Amino acid sequence: MKDNKTIILGIESSCDDTSAAVLADGWLLANVMASQDVHRQYGGVIPELASRAHQQNILPVVSEALRRSEVAMDEVDAIAFTRGPGLLGSLIVGTSFAKGLALSADVPMVEVNHLQGHILSHFIKVPGREVSQPSFPFLALLVSGGHTQIVRVDDYLDFTVLGQTIDDAVGEAFDKCAKMLDLGYPGGPVIDRLAKEGDPSRFRFAKPSIPGLDFSFSGIKTSLLYFLRDSLKEDPEFIEKNKNDLCASFQKDLIDILMKKLVKATGQTGIRQIVAGGGVAANSALRAAITSEGEKRDWSCFLPELRFTTDNAAMIAIVGYYKYQKGIFCGLDAAPISRAADYKL
Ligand code: KG4
Ligand code: ZN
Repeated sequence: MKDNKTIILGIESSCDDTSAAVLADGWLLANVMASQDVHRQYGGVIPELASRAHQQNILPVVSEALRRSEVAMDEVDAIAFTRGPGLLGSLIVGTSFAKGLALSADVPMVEVNHLQGHILSHFIKVPGREVSQPSFPFLALLVSGGHTQIVRVDDYLDFTVLGQTIDDAVGEAFDKCAKMLDLGYPGGPVIDRLAKEGDPSRFRFAKPSIPGLDFSFSGIKTSLLYFLRDSLKEDPEFIEKNKNDLCASFQKDLIDILMKKLVKATGQTGIRQIVAGGGVAANSALRAAITSEGEKRDWSCFLPELRFTTDNAAMIAIVGYYKYQKGIFCGLDAAPISRAADYKL
């Protein structure tokens, strides 16, 4: 199996997905995920329940990834695990498991910043599927449930944050809008689906005016809240009657905010290679906006396969692979880092 290839076992447990993956020289052998449905009934992730579910899932998920990839533990060259950012209780399960496994199997460990994983997911090589990869430097639009950033990437492990949200993440804005419209959790995919049937120009919400390349999404969320409150006073069935148009309009405004800053970043840096990553990069309207803006402005755009947009261990393993090549390992004292601000990209 091994044939002198570098085998990386990746482990991801930063939020509500437990995942393990195996890469051989960057080629994907297995990517196993266990999502946690338990949070749906609460309309959001409950940290204690997430942590408990990770504890139940992690051993079966890692065993299954090794089994599917036909790799024995003594063939693994390094264990890459998500050190942060994320929910502390969730991160503790993944980091503790990685440490125990590394110690017992006598394998080195590589700590991985989850956000680097989202960005480098474009470099995961999938057997039987030839796709071009971005070259350096490129700009990454990182859009997830916890983060919204524009990052300049000069090399596999050389990241500079050019702009970021000063309040909510864009995925959070999708999820909160979905909650107001009673669409369930997570709301992003539902809004994406309903918006396809709606008129994006029907309603307009307050747009932020934030200098530089930073973002803000809390104002537009409040604008939707007040608009719904006033409209429901006049017609209690307002949401039901206008659901698709509300989704399409709110989604359009979120995408306009993202695209405005992305265009600005390409203007400021002169970089024309654009990479999208994170859960919201699955959004069909955002993908279409990046593609059409790219055609207009002569960008090379890289949109991740849908299975690599949401949290997965293959993206953790690919960062692990590049760190392994540079001999960057960590010790058993690597404690989880919950806050993004405390964990430099
Ligand atoms: O990257 P991710 O799985 O977890 C974090 O690292 O946060 O992103 C999850 C976020 C959620 O807010 C979810 O609503 C959003 O990604 N999302 C979407 C879509 N699919 C997932 N948002 C908009 N449209 C989608 N199709
Ligand atoms: Zn994520």
